[in-house]
Amino acid sequence: MDMSRVSIIDHPMVQHKLTILRDKNTSSKQFRELVKELALFEGYEATKDFELSETEIETPMEKTKAYEISGKKVALVPILRAGLGMVEGLLELVPVARVGHIGMYRDPDTHEPVEYYAKFPQDIESRIVLILDPMLATGGSASAAIKYMRDLGVKDIKLLVILAAPEGIQEVLESDPDVQIFTCAIDKGLDEHAYIVPGLGDAGDRIFGTK
Ligand code: PRP
Ligand code: URA
Repeated sequence: MDMSRVSIIDHPMVQHKLTILRDKNTSSKQFRELVKELALFEGYEATKDFELSETEIETPMEKTKAYEISGKKVALVPILRAGLGMVEGLLELVPVARVGHIGMYRDPDTHEPVEYYAKFPQDIESRIVLILDPMLATGGSASAAIKYMRDLGVKDIKLLVILAAPEGIQEVLESDPDVQIFTCAIDKGLDEHAYIVPGLGDAGDRIFGTK
């Protein structure tokens, strides 16, 4: 595996928040807040190679050179449902980002992703696309979403997840030659239902209180 395309956000605050997120006694309210906060921290890392250009502004004291983001615009693409929990955190960081949606669920028997919805900004191919999903398990959903973006002509794709299994990382790296992955941790592996262990359970259910 070419781990140069994988970034683990090992900041102590991130790791502390991740511990609370994993805990089965954490409420849906707190779970949602933590997913949002972790998404913002990940976004901070994932945007650190964004281009800057010099500009001139006037402070109350004098004119000065300053810097502003100048490269490609951003589109956030949450994978429904659980990816929705990460959108608000990323929008706090990049308020001008457009948001596309891709709906996918895993077939409970085959664990293959089934696509059920897609809607994107018109100019998505010219944007840096940040695909958002808290869980990278088998990698089926993320790989399908990345392929969908490539078929639309998107060149710059980063995948932001909160937890990843080694199997999912391998699948994504092998299925796309360029995508970069950001995660807060890489867990031990998958159980017989393709859930991440130790993981945090079903992210969508914990965000939306559906179980
Ligand atoms: C979960 C999760 C990912 C996917 C990860 O979604 O949010 O999208 O599974 O698994 P994979 O890497 O094996 O594809 P789920 O299908 O439970 O749908 P939901 O978000 O609507 O709950
Ligand atoms: N989807 C989840 O929500 N959790 C997992 O552990 C795997 C897939």
